Amino acid sequence: MRAWLLDSLDGIEKLRLAETAPPPCAPGEVLLRLHFAALNPADAFLAQAMYPAKPALPHVLGRDGVGEVVAVGEGVAEPRVGETVGVLRCDAGVERWGTLAELVTVPANSVAPVPEGWSLEEMAAAPLTFLTAWQALTQWSDPPAPPEPGSTLLVTGASGGVGVAAVLLARSMGLRVAGLSRSAEKGARLLHLGADFVFDPGDSDLRRKVAAALSPAKVDLAVDSVAGPLFNQLVAMLGNRGRISVVGRSAGAVPEFNTGTLFFRRNRIGGVSVGSYSRPEAQAAWKEIVIRLRSIDRRPVIDRVFAFEQVKAGFARLAESPMGKVVIRVNG
Ligand SMILES: NC(=O)c1ccc[n+]([C@@H]2O[C@H](COP(=O)([O-])OP(=O)(O)OC[C@H]3O[C@@H](n4cnc5c(N)ncnc54)[C@H](OP(=O)(O)O)[C@@H]3O)[C@@H](O)[C@H]2O)c1
Repeated sequence: MRAWLLDSLDGIEKLRLAETAPPPCAPGEVLLRLHFAALNPADAFLAQAMYPAKPALPHVLGRDGVGEVVAVGEGVAEPRVGETVGVLRCDAGVERWGTLAELVTVPANSVAPVPEGWSLEEMAAAPLTFLTAWQALTQWSDPPAPPEPGSTLLVTGASGGVGVAAVLLARSMGLRVAGLSRSAEKGARLLHLGADFVFDPGDSDLRRKVAAALSPAKVDLAVDSVAGPLFNQLVAMLGNRGRISVVGRSAGAVPEFNTGTLFFRRNRIGGVSVGSYSRPEAQAAWKEIVIRLRSIDRRPVIDRVFAFEQVKAGFARLAESPMGKVVIRVNG
């Protein structure tokens, strides 16, 4: 099979398209012939040794994808050979070879059918970011559950993969959503997708504008994939018992964070890790996601589809912060 091999953790520029043996299909696994894969920032982080996993080399990146089942391992009853399925976040592209290849093996219980009415590209694009957004939105209840309808949500990096997913899911939950984007054009698209308000995170008057829009409420929950200096402003915008789900840190470390800012409104900060979902948890969350997207008649947002030979151009596009997912056409 053809695969993009990562020989060393020196960045995606060093990826090499090569002919290599397909991965063996072990008991409990399925072998997929991929139609499409999708890129995530974590692929590039792993390639630069900026991710906890340090897989054996050479490695194949890619955590999202959709393909046809061409073989099943011992003990696998579902899915069957010939079915087309998408990959839910598992160890593919992390500890084992991933979806930037013509063939991939994944655990049989880490795949899901393509939802009715979705394109293959949409199925390839959605699972990792939507599962992440789902965890960020539901993790504050035990058992996990969406916030009360009418609660207020602030989403940073709202035009990104996780951000768009959070906006759409929040819409389906009846939340009041404020999104942050540095781009007026992407901001307009976010309003169309379902955000109630959009603000520029660089606006020196950001706190006052968000407060005025949400008044008399304050921010109940923030989903943050940006961090950096913006993080202290997020804390300041929280209401009583307001929470922040920490997803990423696209703008780097938080400077001079003062834990005292959390005291008086009993604010809480909690990490999100999509990789911490067990396979049954990921399946259950994915079913909810699909139902909720159908309820608002929305599907995943795609920026562009690149040819398999153009994976590096796809990563370059992802680094430009497009609105929607960057997808790779692998076969056909
Ligand atoms: N914890 C987890 O389990 C988990 C899962 C998935 C992703 N992540 C992480 O979450 C982060 C976002 O992932 P993603 O897939 O949504 O990435 P993405 O598609 O690249 O989107 C990130 C968005 O953040 C905004 N942004 C980027 N740099 C910024 C900056 N310096 N200041 C303000 N805004 C900035 C951009 O929006 P505008 O240009 O519109 O401002 C961009 O579209 C990544 O770091 C990723 O690794 C974590």
